[in-house]
Amino acid sequence: MILLEGVLAAEDVARVRRDLDAAPWIDGKTTAGPAAREVKQNRQAAGDDPLVQAIEKFVLEAIHRHPLFSVAARPRRLSRLLFSSYEGGETYGLHTDDALMGAALLRSDLAFTLFLTDPETYEGGALTVTSPLGDQAIKLAAGDMVLYPAGSIHAVAPVTSGRRLACVGWIQSTVRDAAQRELLFDLANARALFARGEVNRESLLLLDRAQSNLLRMWAET
Ligand code: NI
Repeated sequence: MILLEGVLAAEDVARVRRDLDAAPWIDGKTTAGPAAREVKQNRQAAGDDPLVQAIEKFVLEAIHRHPLFSVAARPRRLSRLLFSSYEGGETYGLHTDDALMGAALLRSDLAFTLFLTDPETYEGGALTVTSPLGDQAIKLAAGDMVLYPAGSIHAVAPVTSGRRLACVGWIQSTVRDAAQRELLFDLANARALFARGEVNRESLLLLDRAQSNLLRMWAET
């Protein structure tokens, strides 16, 4: 799971929210796969509307501009972006995302959620990603984004007051394997620290992890 801070600046978030207020909204079930449809209760901005498409283009460019995005995700293809709204108890129950999406059969290696409302303005609404080590509840500042494995079991907790707006999408990566992608991310981050002259505990830990994980992949005992 990787956090990308400040994908949208405060004024960009305000612009996106203003435009979304003027956009037409539809039932979120229309874009869910058969299994997810039963547990998905939200609304989505209508993807065929020109205003929504303009917002999508604006947000997509911001995502691509973020300095960590390409090195964290190694993106090959991105899905359409969905803008979702939850209020009045709306929720998206536990589900996993379709492996292949749309007519283009995009392989969803990673999912992302870009938060568009500040966490103190609504109750509930955490993105909950389950793992054998326990569930992680993620509720980020407006403009921040989380990348997580699309193959995980995850949910959006009921929004019991206020309104939660977010942008979600999926990425097919050039590096399909999550462990290999993370290893390359460690090396890129260590390199960035070294390039700034920061030979310290953090940069050495990143190198240690990359070295250990390569050894796990290659060692025969
Ligand atoms: Ni999902």
